[in-house]
Amino acid sequence: MTAPASPAPAAPSGDVVIRTIAMPADTNNNGDIFGGWLVSQMDIGGAILARSTALSRVTTVAIDAISFLRPVVVGDIVTCYAQLLSIGRTSMKISIEAWVHRYAASQQQQVTRGCFTYVALDSEGKPHPVKR
Ligand SMILES: CC(C)(COP(=O)(O)OP(=O)(O)OC[C@H]1O[C@@H](n2cnc3c(N)ncnc32)[C@H](O)[C@@H]1OP(=O)(O)O)[C@@H](O)C(=O)NCCC(=O)NCCS
Repeated sequence: MTAPASPAPAAPSGDVVIRTIAMPADTNNNGDIFGGWLVSQMDIGGAILARSTALSRVTTVAIDAISFLRPVVVGDIVTCYAQLLSIGRTSMKISIEAWVHRYAASQQQQVTRGCFTYVALDSEGKPHPVKR
């Protein structure tokens, strides 16, 4: 039996890295926001933090443990929050949460969380050490 997903926290962790609105073009054939769209927003947001940490190009090498906690609907304001968890030699682990603000709602609700790993790259696209 799998353990139940832990409850969503009441407040986001990390810094705002991206904010956008879910649009009709981002829906799947059921009219719901496509999960891949949300993952790409999280990936872009994490890359912004990774780039500003490494001060170089970065690439995504792994995405772990993504949980989709609630659906996103057209018109939701989607905000991604990113937090640096650890720095390896060339890699950075970043936790990313997406929260939505819905029409007429007073508070944001968390919709996803995940852990993304980025690698710092040199000008030739090879991994290079992240300065500490
Ligand atoms: C990222 C990439 C340059 C790494 O090259 P590589 O030859 O595997 O380099 P390394 O083995 O030295 O690994 C580099 C770092 O990534 C980490 N890493 C590699 N694979 C990993 C994985 N699956 N999960 C977590 N970390 C990983 C290594 O532990 C290492 O971290 P460290 O330097 O902090 O110890 C190469 O795998 C690549 O180009 N991947 C494609 C990336 C991409 O196109 N992303 C967008 C997807 S569309």
